[in-house]
Parts: sequence; structure tokens; C-alpha cells
Amino acid sequence: MSDESTLLIAKPDAVRRGLVGEILSRVERRGLRIEALKLMRIDRTLAERHYAEHAEKPFFGDLVRFITSGDVVVARVGGREAVSALRALMGATDPATSAPGTIRGDLAIEITENLVHGSDSPDSAARELALFFGE
Ligand code: RTP
Ligand code: MG
Repeated sequence: MSDESTLLIAKPDAVRRGLVGEILSRVERRGLRIEALKLMRIDRTLAERHYAEHAEKPFFGDLVRFITSGDVVVARVGGREAVSALRALMGATDPATSAPGTIRGDLAIEITENLVHGSDSPDSAARELALFFGE
């Protein structure tokens, strides 16, 4: 029943494809709140800090190249169990296996260009919100 906040990123593919409104609409219709919102370009330094946990993974280069490839829309999303509720709305990491009804399962097919990021735990949310909104 905890009210909490989490970080949502509509990735560069979402902006390029004109799906930001669709994504934010799904978040709002679920009953979550958009508490802060901005359009920005993530630079390499911020991308590497944000995705630091993946620094040793083989896909890290592609991930950083992609997330810095165009504008993104970042939001602080709040509400009851917001961290897990947003992750459920997003669907599994690989859109090829994401359930229909989820953002990735309805709107994406590639694993790198998977439209959205959501913090994976309350601790990650606190760290990421500090990075993007300085709180
Ligand atoms: P995100 O952090 O972007 O919200 O995604 P996630 O939690 O669902 O997935 P995560 O494991 O944190 O991976 C971060 C991003 O890296 C890309 N990835 N590629 N080629 C691969 O095996 C692979 N695995 C992950 C995805 O774009 C994922 O969103
Ligand atoms: Mg993740």
C-alpha cells in the first residue's frame, strides 16, 4: 500500500516514433501520477552512470549508443506500488516475449529499441531520480 515514486524514461525510439503520448496515457489511465516531466538528451556520462550495473555486459556499448541517440522524455511517476506497477505496465525486457497488453508487448519487437525504462526497485528509483531530477 506504499505510495512511492519511480523513474520512467520514454527512450529515443519512443520519441522518434511519436509514442510518448501513448506511453504517458497508459501510465495515467492505470491511475499513476506524472509528478515531473522533461524532454532532454542523455549524454554519455549520464548514460554510463544510469546503466552502471550493466558496464561489463556485452550489450553495454549498444545500450549507451542507443539511449544517447536522440531526445528522451523522463518522468517521475508516483502512486501506490509505483515501481512494480510501472514495470508490469512496461512488460518483459525483450519485447519478443513481452505479454500483449503491455507497452513493449503491444508496441515493440527489438530488445535494444524497447521504448521504455522503469526503475527495477525502490533503491534503484531513489538513485535514478537523484540522477535525473536531483532529488
Ligand atoms: P531498462 O533498464 O531499460 O528499463 O530495461 P530492463 O530493466 O527491462 O532490462 P535490463 O536488464 O536493465 O537491461 C537494460 C537494457 O539493456 C538492453 N539489453 N539488451 N542484448 C541483450 O541481451 C540485452 N539485454 C538487455 C535492453 O534494451 C534493456 O532495456
Ligand atoms: Mg533495468
